[in-house]
Parts: sequence; C-alpha cells; structure tokens
Amino acid sequence: MDISMLKQSLAQYGQEHLLAFWETLDDHDKRELYKDITEINMRDVTTFFKRTTDSLNEDQEKLDDRLQPVPSEIYGSAAQTSKEKLKIYQNEGLRQIAEGKVGVLLLAGGQGTRLGVPYPKGMYDVGLPSHKTLYQLQAERIRKLEELAFDHTGVHGSIPWYIMTSEHTKEPTLDFFARHNYFGLKKENLIVFEQGMLPCFTFDGKIILENKNKVAKAPDGNGGLYRALNEKNILENLQRRNVKYLHVYCVDNILVKLADPVFIGYCISKGADCGAKVVEKSFPTEAVGVVCKVDGKYQVVEYSEITLKTAQKRNPDSRLTFSAGNICNHFFTTEFLQNIVNEQEFSLKHHVARKKIPYVDSNGDIIKPEKPNGIKMEKFVFDVFQFSNDFVVWEVPREDEFSPLKNADGAEKDTPTTARHDLYSLHHRYLVAAGGELVHDKHMPIILSEPSPIHNGNGTIQETNNNEIKNSNLKWKGPMICEISPLVSYAGEGLEDIVCRKKFQPPLCLRHPLEKSFNKNTCDKGEH
Ligand code: UD1
Repeated sequence: MDISMLKQSLAQYGQEHLLAFWETLDDHDKRELYKDITEINMRDVTTFFKRTTDSLNEDQEKLDDRLQPVPSEIYGSAAQTSKEKLKIYQNEGLRQIAEGKVGVLLLAGGQGTRLGVPYPKGMYDVGLPSHKTLYQLQAERIRKLEELAFDHTGVHGSIPWYIMTSEHTKEPTLDFFARHNYFGLKKENLIVFEQGMLPCFTFDGKIILENKNKVAKAPDGNGGLYRALNEKNILENLQRRNVKYLHVYCVDNILVKLADPVFIGYCISKGADCGAKVVEKSFPTEAVGVVCKVDGKYQVVEYSEITLKTAQKRNPDSRLTFSAGNICNHFFTTEFLQNIVNEQEFSLKHHVARKKIPYVDSNGDIIKPEKPNGIKMEKFVFDVFQFSNDFVVWEVPREDEFSPLKNADGAEKDTPTTARHDLYSLHHRYLVAAGGELVHDKHMPIILSEPSPIHNGNGTIQETNNNEIKNSNLKWKGPMICEISPLVSYAGEGLEDIVCRKKFQPPLCLRHPLEKSFNKNTCDKGEH
C-alpha cells in the first residue's frame, strides 16, 4: 500500500478527507479502505459530479419548453390494432424466439428501499396462493413462451435470461436460483452479472465516508447497464448466442410479459432499433416517466423532472398531452446496443438523486441524517433513446401489463396487495374469456367488473374494488382469488380445454402438473 501516493492523488481531486481516520485504523481496516478508494477512478467520478451538477440548473429551467409528445406515426396501440394484425406481430415474435434470436434482460440492481426488504425484490413473495416470488413468475413465463414458440414453429429455441444485479443483490440472487433449481430453466441460460457502483457525494463535491474504513457507494443507476454490458462481457455473450433482440425490463412489475412476442413482433416489423412499451398515464402527478421528444430527440422525462403545469397539459380530446407512461419495458436490437457501448456510453449524463446518506462525522460517530445530505449519481436506462434512428412506442392496457411493486403494504399504491389483486383480476379475465366462471357458494357467478356493482340476486348490490368483496351479504367473502400458473398459460391462451363451461369457487389456483417436481411452493387451497 503506497499511502503517500494515494494521499497525493486524492489531494489532486480534493478528496484527501477520505484518509482522515487512517492513523486510527488497524491493518485490516487500512487494507479495506485502501482497496475501497483505489477501486474508484477519481478522475472519472469527479468529472461526473461536476458535469452532473453543472447541467442540473440549466437543464431544469428550460426543459418544459423543449418537450413535445411522441408523434402518432411511431405510436402503436394494442387496443387500436386489429386482432389479425396483433396475430401477425405475435407470430413474428414467436418465430424469432424459436430461432433463439430473442433474449430478456432484467434490471435488478436497485436497492428496493421503498419496499424495505433486506433481500433482492425479485425474491419477494407477494402472497399469491402459490407463494411464487417475482423471480419465479418471470422464470415460468420464459419457460411457457419457449414452449409456445416451439408449438408455433416446431423449432426449439431458448430465451437467455440476463439479470443485472449490484453489489448487494448478486450473491443472494445467484443463491436463490441455485436453491430453486433455476425454476426449471437451463442453468446456462441464466446469466447473472453485476453493475458498477459510484461513490456518493456531499452537495459540495466531497465523497462521503460511510464509516472510518468504507466509502459510501451506490449502484450507478439502471443505465449502468451499458457500461456493464461491456465490462461484464454481456454484449459479447449476446453476439455469441446470436441474440438479435433484447427485451429489457424492471423487476417489480408483477404483470410483466417477458419477451412479449407481440411487442417484439411489432418492433421488428417497424424496423425499430429501439422501442418502449407504455401505458396511458392515468393522472398528471402519477409517478411514472413520460416518453416524449426533447429538442427533437426521444427521451423519457422522469416524474421528478417535469413541472406540474406541463404534466397537466391536455389535448382537445382531454387526453393528457404527455400521456405515454414509461413502464420500463424496452426493446433494443443487439446492433443498437453495440453502438451505444462502443460510441455513446461515456457521453450519457448522470441524473442526481438527493438522498439521506449515512456518514461518519469528524468524531468518528455514524450519523443517520434526517434530511438529504448528499447525492447519488445515476444513469437511466432510457437515456439511450436519443441515439435511436428508428424509435417506436407501443401502448398496452395498464390492467393487462402494469402493476409495479414499489411500496410496502400500508402505502396508497403499488403495494403487495395491489400487485396481487391486479394479477387476480387479469387471471379472472383470462378465465372468463376462455369460458370459465368463478362462482360463490350459492353458485352465483362472480361477475367480472371493476369497480362496477355486482348484483347478488337478493336485490342488494356488492361493490367491488380491486377484487375485494366489500359487502358481506354473501357467505363467501374476501378477495376474489384467481391465480393461473404461467406454466399453464402465458397470456390467457390454451385455457379453453381446462376451464370452458366449468365453474370454480375461489380461491382458484390453476397449476401445471410439472410444478410439483421442482417447486416446494404449491397452492395450498383451491388446487385444480
Ligand atoms: C422506473 C422508471 C420510470 C418508470 C417506472 C415504472 C427508470 C430510471 N425509471 O422508475 O420512468 O415510470 O420505473 O415503474 O427506469 N435498477 C437497477 N440499478 C440501479 C437502479 C435501479 O438495476 O442502479 C433497477 C431496479 O432494480 C428496477 C428498475 O431499475 O428493476 C427501476 O428502478 P426503480 O428505482 O424502481 O425506478 P422507478 O423510480 O420506479
């Protein structure tokens, strides 16, 4: 350890305070701190800090004036596309999957602070009858899709699953998949890699010490993907496997359609190099980014970066002008990613998140601040949209595809309860569309509607809200539980033979016989 060299180099970047406790540390702690500091590229991170904070004021002021909505010619909508056309897109997607040209990449390096669990969010059990975690639901959707692609083409292709983790989530994620036999996927098709970390700064540009021998660091945002694609040889892995199209998505959406063949087929048929799946924003202050154009280039403007006035703007038809709500579901060609990695990654700017960052004070005491005391710098995954030559947007119905798990129960929205209920509601609709019925104990059908009234036959009306039966005139009460294993159906297909003209009393949990062999988490009640 050449400490005098280190001191000199830190002084060059105004960071010599990182060695404030050096003389008080034992050998072990000295080695830890030395390693921690020398792993940081001081020139890069201090440049990032300056660039990020310099651009903060300029950009914020004028951003609103530079925004334009996405033009209609690149804006497709599932609801406004004919069944025949949707089928064409789907078939194209399935064909590409069968040929092994489609991969999925999960962004799972976030710290999940809002949900407040000490393990990766993907390992979260939202309380479905099957107790499947988010990771398991996603793994099973991949398996089912591979099967559907095979049924459609007679060719068996795999969908490699790349999972981007960070320092805190990598080991638990690897361990979790190994303990669950990769949920039936081939081990070699699961590629877990780690994104980079960046030091946290005070507002005046000093790197924060978390304790006497450790620098405070945080993952470099989900746009850290592009650096990691290169540094962890993921781009090379994609090329070696001949994966041409990648679906990139975030971990917390319980309804996510991985490698959605319709979305993939739509993007391919439009010749897109980059695409975003969106839902219509439901109200101006909803905490979703909006896909739009800034200075003529495609971008997502985050909910924290748009003013209320612009967010509230409406078209003559009363639809929000900036209505393309980002659900963190992106399509990229491998070729596009290669260009980003080789040419553009360094120029992507970081965004600033003001956070409460625990630190060690000059007395050596650990302080947990009550208000933000520093910043984390993050790149965002969608910041590469600006480099797209052929960008497209695909709008899908929110109730079919978007229910994120952000907060713990007790919060107003995006909780385990809302995620569970949105999944039950979707699966109930699949069941009804296939000719099945949920009935209560008097064999009265449980009608599909939300939050419209349900007539119970006695002249009283039951109000449903998020599938919860509120009125207690029925003997059967409680949530309208309807869970269909992804191994049985990916998106409602193939259910007719199983459910048509059949009545089921909730809780209903349809599962595949194969599930017993590798999965301890079976449905306790209502098995069929
Ligand atoms: C994200 C989107 C937002 C969108 C919303 C929909 C970004 C930057 N913002 O917001 O536009 O409307 O989802 O739910 O994408 N992650 C990493 N590494 C990190 C940080 C995050 O992999 O360093 C992952 C998380 O694990 C998660 C995803 O990125 O899977 C999104 O991160 P999160 O912090 O949940 O973003 P939101 O603020 O919810």
